[in-house]
Amino acid sequence: MSLFNLAVFISGSGSNLQAVIDATENGTIPNAKVALVISSREGVYGLERAEKHGINSMVIDRQNSERILKVLEDHTINGIILAGYLSMLPPDVVQAYSGKIINIHPALLPKFGGKGFYGIRVHQAVLESGDKHTGATVHVVDLEYDTGPSLIQSIVSVLPDDTAEALQKRVLVEEHKILVLAAKALVENRIDEMVKNPIILG
Ligand code: GRF
Repeated sequence: MSLFNLAVFISGSGSNLQAVIDATENGTIPNAKVALVISSREGVYGLERAEKHGINSMVIDRQNSERILKVLEDHTINGIILAGYLSMLPPDVVQAYSGKIINIHPALLPKFGGKGFYGIRVHQAVLESGDKHTGATVHVVDLEYDTGPSLIQSIVSVLPDDTAEALQKRVLVEEHKILVLAAKALVENRIDEMVKNPIILG
């Protein structure tokens, strides 16, 4: 049985990438492998993580859709994961893999999502809002920022003395968990089912 080839797009440390690599290697996500890592930035730790696992990785300008599509095709990619990728995918890439692209966001979308809401800024906004809960969301990628249908969310309590960094740390643990669950659904062709019955943990 041929393996399901995953491409993971990153822009930074790649801890979500690492969670997916580990899950495909330890059997949590069977019959799949991370076949390709594409970064929008040079010199990020996520590229070292790929190299350590012998995964083909490269930096491609986020607007170079021609090169992105060519590389995805060359690697016979079956599904795409955006994991800390801080750009929009070009529309023709989203269309070419429609329904087969998932993204992890460090908040309970639709709250604290959209352009400008990424990384530590998300958690600062949550603290400023006075919300008692936040969390993480994996959703299907469509042609806008963070607006595709939710697949799975995990709720995290905001503690009275929370700093943005402390909150980010707790949310990141949940991101890794739900990204692996959603990636497994992607590999097993259960995305449509999950869209109909999104999961909420916590
Ligand atoms: C994570 O919070 C992710 O959701 C956000 O960037 C942060 C770093 O992710 N987009 P990673 O460690 O690079 O996977």
